[in-house]
Amino acid sequence: MRDIESRADIELLLEDFYRQAFADGLIGRFFTEVVPLNLDTHLPIIADFWESIVFATPYAKNVMAVHHDIHQRSPIQKDHLDRWAALFTATVAAHFDGPRATLMQQRARSVATLMDIKLNHSKKGL
Ligand code: HEM
Repeated sequence: MRDIESRADIELLLEDFYRQAFADGLIGRFFTEVVPLNLDTHLPIIADFWESIVFATPYAKNVMAVHHDIHQRSPIQKDHLDRWAALFTATVAAHFDGPRATLMQQRARSVATLMDIKLNHSKKGL
């Protein structure tokens, strides 16, 4: 198994991840009902985010604010974030192995942890 080498690798990974996330019994409804996610338009944005982490390209959007809005419609709780992170890290492991793959797994866990703190344990909510 090889490491992530390109944006195309990130896109492949994300397609597999969201295929599973949409079908997931615990978090699927966020993508199908709470904020119906059009992958054709959204996958490039999410790929930009991961490309910025793995290949240090620019990314200016506020990911926390996006999820704060979702949280207002339907609370994103710790068990949702744990499932998201478990599914994401397992999908990375199913396709790639190496320092970039490990970095994506670590960042998925740390952003999920930070989201839980900001959404569920901060008085301001953000
Ligand atoms: C239970 C956990 C999560 C749920 C249910 C969730 C759901 C969503 C949804 C529905 C969108 C589309 C928002 C929109 O169209 O307005 C979105 C966007 C996005 N998510 Fe998540 N997400 C979760 C966790 C995470 C985590 C942990 C990360 C990063 C490590 C992440 C990264 C992103 C990015 C980069 C976008 C695109 C932002 C943008 O549109 O500007 N998500 N998420």
